Amino acid sequence: MTELIHILINGHAVTVKPGTSIAAAVLNAGTTAFRKSVSHVPRGPVCGMGVCFECRVKIDGIEHQRSCMVLCSEGMVIETDV
Ligand code: FES
Repeated sequence: MTELIHILINGHAVTVKPGTSIAAAVLNAGTTAFRKSVSHVPRGPVCGMGVCFECRVKIDGIEHQRSCMVLCSEGMVIETDV
């Protein structure tokens, strides 16, 4: 039996399987706007492999983390649109 991981995305409790990237967890939670561009246009993941930087979110209080490059771990707090 696989143990699930509990995280918070924009204040909402979400449960994911081990090995889930934060980008996948955020998308599965229904959020497509991960951040805003300098001209306030919503942006979201493009490459999924750490190159485009469009998937940046705040993870445990640290801004501008590439969510496609970080796996979810128990108790993480993720905030989008930072
Ligand atoms: S989706 Fe491109 S860096 Fe994360």
